Amino acid sequence: MVAENFIEFKDVGKVYPNGTVGLSHINLTIPKGQFLVVVGLSGSGKSTLMRTLNRMHDISSGDIMIDGQSIINYKGKQLRNLRRKIGMIFQNFNLVKRSSVQRNVLSGRVGYYSTWRSALGLFSQADKQKTVEALRRVGLGEKLYTRADQLSGGQQQRVAVARAFMQDPKIVLADEPVASLDPLTTDSVMNDLKKLNDDFGITVIVNLHSLELARKYADRIVGLRGGELVYDKTIDQVTDTDLDNIYQSEGPEPESEAIVMHSATEGVI
Ligand SMILES: Nc1ncnc2c1ncn2[C@@H]1O[C@H](COP(=O)(O)OP(=O)(O)OP(=O)(O)O)[C@@H](O)[C@H]1O
Ligand SMILES: [Mg+2]
Repeated sequence: MVAENFIEFKDVGKVYPNGTVGLSHINLTIPKGQFLVVVGLSGSGKSTLMRTLNRMHDISSGDIMIDGQSIINYKGKQLRNLRRKIGMIFQNFNLVKRSSVQRNVLSGRVGYYSTWRSALGLFSQADKQKTVEALRRVGLGEKLYTRADQLSGGQQQRVAVARAFMQDPKIVLADEPVASLDPLTTDSVMNDLKKLNDDFGITVIVNLHSLELARKYADRIVGLRGGELVYDKTIDQVTDTDLDNIYQSEGPEPESEAIVMHSATEGVI
């Protein structure tokens, strides 16, 4: 177990097939159990960075190590094992809206089942029990049989946190998890994530736009600009002025939304 350099980005570069530079010369070492917040303007590379960790995006240069092993050439079983250990939380929750909360949370376990068992929904009693525990952790114990689309946005995000917990993850990646939530709900979701971090030593990486939230929850804040790491401080070193600087003196946006959409529809991610 490599604790101090649990996750290592080594001179990582990512160029999208259309030539857009997503990441450039990223060197970043994340110790086990850290609550890391990544900030930066839209288009600065936050999502790209996060997605390289579970190989939703492949990198163009450099290397990424997790627990002492390079992950960039993982295939098949190794890749499945990697993804099983990484919980993902998205801005839009990514729940199956017409399914029950229970089903959604149980789906966090599918990485532990053979394809046919999970397709038939043959989850073990132990996992059903774990679902109850997972929901209690996020204060939704009574919502087991409710349909996901009957929950508020904040509740849906808390179900997503419960689903991530079901994976027994070593890492949780949350990409702007609270961007569409009100301030009160935001705090409950951030607290749920913090609890995963505190109670189980799970390494949590959160992309946020709000510096105020970053300061409230992070052990460490890193800032991206134009795909480069321009800021990296532990929370006790962070000052008001340097946070202001992260969002100031930006050049023009490197790429337009339209290009992202275009690429996505061509499936060249
Ligand atoms: N699939 C893609 N194809 C081409 N370029 C992309 C793709 N996805 C992202 N990019 C570009 O890579 C750069 C980094 O994008 P990324 O989505 O990582 O930024 P972000 O910091 O997450 O932004 P936001 O705050 O808006 O979510 C941007 O210039 C973006 O346009
Ligand atoms: Mg993003």
